[in-house]
Amino acid sequence: MLLIIKEPKTKKDYESYFDLRWQILRGPWGLPRGSERDDLEEESIHLIASIENNIIVGVGRAHFNSPDEAQIRFMAVSQYYQNNGIGGTLLADLERRVKIGGAKYIVLNSRETAIDFYKKHGYSSEGKAIILINSIRHIKVRKDLL
Ligand SMILES: CC(C)(COP(=O)(O)OP(=O)(O)OC[C@H]1O[C@@H](n2cnc3c(N)ncnc32)[C@H](O)[C@@H]1OP(=O)(O)O)[C@@H](O)C(=O)NCCC(=O)NCCS
Repeated sequence: MLLIIKEPKTKKDYESYFDLRWQILRGPWGLPRGSERDDLEEESIHLIASIENNIIVGVGRAHFNSPDEAQIRFMAVSQYYQNNGIGGTLLADLERRVKIGGAKYIVLNSRETAIDFYKKHGYSSEGKAIILINSIRHIKVRKDLL
C-alpha cells in the first residue's frame, strides 16, 4: 500500500480531512458535524494520509501551546485501515514538524483505548484521567523531543 502523507491543500482535501475526523472521533458518540473542530484550526499543522486515488485514510493535527510545548489532537484512522502503521506514520511526521518549529516536548490527551498506541511511540502517562467529549476517559501523556 503506497501511503502519502501531506498537508491538506484544496477545499476538497479539507472537507475529507474534517469528515474523517468527525466519522471516527465524533459521529459514533452522536455529536453533530462541526463538533470535530476547535478554534485553533487556522494556526495548526494538519496532516492527511492518503492511498491510491487520493482516498484519505488518516488525519492528525498539531498546535503550539507555548514555544516549547506542542499538542497533538484529532488523530484518526479509518476503521478498515487501522493497525497498518498509518497512525504511527502520521504521528512521527507531526512530531518531526513541531520539532522543526522549536517544540521541546509534546503533550496530548489520549483516549484510554489508544494509550498503548502512544506508549509504543514513546509517550509516557502523566497519570491523571480526565473526562472529555461525552464521558470518554482520557489520559494525559507526554513525550520529550530529544
Ligand atoms: C489510535 C489510532 C490513531 C492509531 O492508528 P493506527 O493506524 O491504527 O495505528 P498503527 O497501525 O500505526 O499502530 C498500531 C499499534 O498500536 C497498538 N495499539 C494500541 N492501541 C491501539 C488502538 N486503540 N488502535 C490501534 N492500535 C493500537 C497496536 O497494537 C499496534 O501495535 P503493534 O504494531 O505492535 O501491533 C487509530 O487506531 C484510531 O483512529 N483509533 C480510533 C480513534 C482514536 O482513538 N484516536 C485517538 C484519539 S486520542
